Amino acid sequence: MPNKKNIGYGKTILFGEHFVVHGLPAIACAISDYTEAKVEKAKKGLELVDNRPETPGYKETKKGEISREMDAILNYMKIDVGKTPLKITLSGNLVCASGIGASAALASSVARALSEYFKLNLNDDRINEVAFEGESGGSGTPSGIDNTASTYGGLLIFEKNLQGGKNKIERLAIKKPIDILLVNSGITQETKEVVGDVRALMEKDAEAFDWIVQQYRKVFEDGLNALKDYDLENLGEAMNRNQELLRKITVSSDLMDELQEIALQNGALGAKLTGTGRGGLLIALTPDKKMQGKVAKAFEKKGFHVTRTKIGI
Ligand code: MEV
Repeated sequence: MPNKKNIGYGKTILFGEHFVVHGLPAIACAISDYTEAKVEKAKKGLELVDNRPETPGYKETKKGEISREMDAILNYMKIDVGKTPLKITLSGNLVCASGIGASAALASSVARALSEYFKLNLNDDRINEVAFEGESGGSGTPSGIDNTASTYGGLLIFEKNLQGGKNKIERLAIKKPIDILLVNSGITQETKEVVGDVRALMEKDAEAFDWIVQQYRKVFEDGLNALKDYDLENLGEAMNRNQELLRKITVSSDLMDELQEIALQNGALGAKLTGTGRGGLLIALTPDKKMQGKVAKAFEKKGFHVTRTKIGI
């Protein structure tokens, strides 16, 4: 992980996006790519300079969300830019895309930079609280998994406490890091909208949703055991089963299914969408460099941007 101060990591979700919003356990992992924030004095109000690399169109699509997120962070930290004008510059090597935790990385990096600028000395738990407020301002009702991974880093089990108490956050240690690929579909989605559609589906047919939830519990248990046993074949299989359930709750798309197919045909042990879905990113389990290279090239030949990274660092 980089030795920088005011950063927030990108993340990938191995199991449980969307299910996590409804109180089910999920597994997420920070990736080493990060967003960095810098706070300086300005002449008037808030001057936001966004130098983050992006999937074409990401920042334009997310303009409203980014501005609401910044307002929520400043509000929660009781910072009045009318009285104390600020310039906030965002940079870092995290390529902003749906599914990579870009808004969470923004929130925790900005929280850290503000904490430093105003000498607040906030610890990670407080930074995570601020980042959650930022995420809530930007995208509605987040589970908190993204800001938690962005703030603390590492591989973790996350379970939202639906009663409003403390969320469960448990660190996971694995034998050695596993090579993965993140494939960018190039499509940016609004998390709020997709989360809302899943909720509507749940309310429309609670019985069918409940059946899917039971299947997901099994996938999560199998995936977790496979991770702990370093059983990568079974880990990949659980990821594929998770993708099947995501398809059932309408958060996949023809393109995401096609990307999964390409990954598997080229030798990945498992693949699924990661994050919001209906575009965004695919995570492919490619636990040796040769496999990772082969799958990456197959996508690159078709013009997709891929990130070669690891989980469990
Ligand atoms: C987004 O990265 C993950 C979702 O489950 C939303 C959330 O947990 O807040 C789709």
